[in-house]
Amino acid sequence: MPLIGTPAGLVAQVRFNHSSARDTTQIPSFDKYKSGSGDASNRAFSYFMVGTTGALSFLGAKTTVADFLANMSASADVLALAKVEVDLSTIPEGRNVTIKWRGKPVFIRHRTADEIEEANSVNIKDLRDPQTDAERASKPEWLVMLGVCTHLGCVPIGEAGDYGGWYCPCHGSHYDISGRIRKGPAPLNLEIPVHSFEEGNKLVIG
Ligand code: FES
Repeated sequence: MPLIGTPAGLVAQVRFNHSSARDTTQIPSFDKYKSGSGDASNRAFSYFMVGTTGALSFLGAKTTVADFLANMSASADVLALAKVEVDLSTIPEGRNVTIKWRGKPVFIRHRTADEIEEANSVNIKDLRDPQTDAERASKPEWLVMLGVCTHLGCVPIGEAGDYGGWYCPCHGSHYDISGRIRKGPAPLNLEIPVHSFEEGNKLVIG
């Protein structure tokens, strides 16, 4: 039956009361998931986790650094190149031999008795870089020097120059038979590398 005030032909809108339906705005309780041990133990656990993570990170970093350093250290073949062995019996008296050591030329001179005498006759007070021959050659017949001019690094020529030793053509430096600078712009004598004489007429450089 149409209601009063309702246009004819329309059925009255029926509204339902939702008060009986379940309230979806209720927040569920999570109390049963809460730790019963309180705040202090939670904090201790957090500290433990942070500390453990830190310690593990430190160990990881330490291992990484150790691996890196192990990779950076010289390998056996590089170490082998650090020293060079020369058989001196193959170098005749009065001859020069040039070998390569650590990428640089090394001059080895088998000096004659006259050359040794000449080297010792020089008054070292007259030298720009005063050094006796004995300070440069522990075995007088063998002179071992870096073949690098002390001016700007050219490679001097052997058996040349005004002093019968080595001559650097780059800017005209003259070295004597002991490799000492005698004339020209070079400030120092040719450098003597670390070397030793071993059994069996062997020279070890490095
Ligand atoms: S580099 Fe030898 S004289 Fe200049």
